[in-house]
Amino acid sequence: MLIETLKEIVGPNGWTVDAADLEPHLTEWRNVVRGATPIMVKPATTDEVSAVVRACAAAGVAIVPQGGNTGMCAGAVPDPSGEQVLLNLSRMNRIRSVDAADFSLVADAGCVLANLQRAAEEVDRLFPLSLGGEGTCQIGGNLATDAGGINVIRYGTTRDLVLGVEAVLADGRVYDGLRTLRKDTAGYDLKQLFIGSEGTLGIITGVAVKLFPAQEASRTAMLAIDDAEKAVELLGVLRGSLDDAIQSFELIGMTALDLVLEHIPDTRLPFESAAPWYVLLEATTGEGDRLERALLPVVNSGLARDAVIAKNDRESDALWRMRHSISEAEKKIGQGVKHDISVPIGRMRDFLTMGDARLAEQIPEATLVAFGHVGDGNLHYNVVLPKSLLGDDLVARRKAVSRLVYDLVAELNGSISAEHGIGVLKRDWLHEYKDPVELDLMRTLKTALDPHSILNPGKVI
Ligand code: FAD
Ligand code: MLT
Ligand code: ZN
Repeated sequence: MLIETLKEIVGPNGWTVDAADLEPHLTEWRNVVRGATPIMVKPATTDEVSAVVRACAAAGVAIVPQGGNTGMCAGAVPDPSGEQVLLNLSRMNRIRSVDAADFSLVADAGCVLANLQRAAEEVDRLFPLSLGGEGTCQIGGNLATDAGGINVIRYGTTRDLVLGVEAVLADGRVYDGLRTLRKDTAGYDLKQLFIGSEGTLGIITGVAVKLFPAQEASRTAMLAIDDAEKAVELLGVLRGSLDDAIQSFELIGMTALDLVLEHIPDTRLPFESAAPWYVLLEATTGEGDRLERALLPVVNSGLARDAVIAKNDRESDALWRMRHSISEAEKKIGQGVKHDISVPIGRMRDFLTMGDARLAEQIPEATLVAFGHVGDGNLHYNVVLPKSLLGDDLVARRKAVSRLVYDLVAELNGSISAEHGIGVLKRDWLHEYKDPVELDLMRTLKTALDPHSILNPGKVI
C-alpha cells in the first residue's frame, strides 16, 4: 500500500525497484556496508519530498536520504532490513537563482557541487567549497555532512558558507529558512540544526550559499619535507610571508603518494628523489614572484628539502590530480582503517609524533597512509594492516588501531571526525568519546525533531 502511494506521489520517472538500478545505491563508496530497500524514490520537488515523508510517517516506515552517495561512513545507505525507503535527491538538481550583487546562490539540494561552482563562475563569482568528490557529491549532502575539502583554511567548512536552508521535517512540514541574509538574530539559528546532521533531523531540499569575488590568479607549489611535524612549522612561516594568500595547505605522506604513483595512470613525482612527506599548497599570489620569494628562504633554511612551483595550469592540475586520487588509490589496496580526525593546529605536531611512536610500539605491523588538511588541523590518519590478517583477528586489530588513534585525539582535545561525519561506521566510537552531556543534548534534539525516528534511524546517534 505504502509503495503504491509513493509511486503515485513521485510519478513514473521518480522511483525504481529494479535490482540492477538499485545496486549502486545500496552500498557506499568503499563497499564496506551493504543495505536493502523496498523502493528508491526520486522526488523532483520539495512538495513531493514532503508528500513522501508524510506517507512514510503515517506508515511508520523509515527514510534514508541519499545525495551523491560519496560519503565515507555509510550514512546514505539503508540498513539491511529491506524496510527503509531510500530517498534519492538527484532529480532535485536546479540552480534556483544566482545573484551576483547579493553574492548568493540558491539551489535545489540535489545539485552536484561542481554545478554550483560553475554557476558562480558564470557571473564572475566564486563558490569555494572544493573536494575530490565534487563532480558527484551534492550540495545537500555537503550540508548534511558539513563537508570540508581543500579550501577550508581560507573559507571555512560548508557551515561557514551557508546562508539559508529549506528542509522537510519528519512530519512532512517544510521549514523554509531559505533566506540570503548575512545577519539575522531573530530567534534561534535553526538552519544550523540541519548542517552536519547527516539526514537525521530533516531532509534538506534547498540551499542558499555565499559567493565570493572571483579569485585573482592562484599558483600551486609542492614542497618536499623530512618529517610531518615540519609541515606545521612551515605553515606558520608561510602564513607570515604569504598571509591570507594561502588557500590550501595539504600534507601528503610518501606512502599515500606511492599508492597514487603505483595505481593511478599518468602520475609522476615532480622531484628527482623521494622524500618522506610533502606539502601541496595553493596560494593566490597573483602575477609576479611573490610565491618564489616566500619559498626560497624555507628551502635555504632546510625547513623544506626542495620545492617545485607549477609553471602553468597543466602542471598545477597534475599536482592536484595526485592529491585528489589518494582515496581512489587507497581503495586498490583494500580496506584501510580510515580516520578523519582533527586536533587544535597547535597540537598537530604532538599528534604526529605521539601517533607514530604509539603505532610503532603497539601495532608494529601497521603501515601509516596519512594525508590531509593539515592547515585545518585535520588529518586522514589512515592505517593499512597486512593482508594476512583475516576474520576476527582483523576485526580486533582494526579496533585496536582506531582506539589508539581516538585515545590520542581525546588526550589532545581533538575530534574523532572532522569532515566525514559519523554515519554508521563511527557511531559506536562517537558514543564512547563524546561527552555524555553532549550526547544527551543530541538525543534531545533528535527526539524533538523526529519523535518517531523516521529520519535515517541508526545513523549518528
Ligand atoms: P551522501 O554520501 O549521499 O550522504 C552523506 C550523508 O548525508 C548521509 O547521511 C545522507 O543521509 C545525508 N544526506 C545526503 N543528502 C541529504 C539531504 N539532501 N538532506 C539530508 N541528508 C542528506 N569530504 C570532505 O568533507 N572533504 C573532502 O576533502 C572529501 N573528499 C572526498 C574525496 C573523494 C574522492 C570522495 C569519494 C569523497 C570525499 N569526501 C570528502 C566525502 C564526501 O564527498 C562528502 O562527505 C560529501 O559532502 C557527501 O556528499 P553526498 O552528496 O555524496 O552525500
Ligand atoms: C580527502 O581529503 O581526500 C578526503 O576527505 C577523502 C578521504 O579521506 O579518503
Ligand atoms: Zn579530506
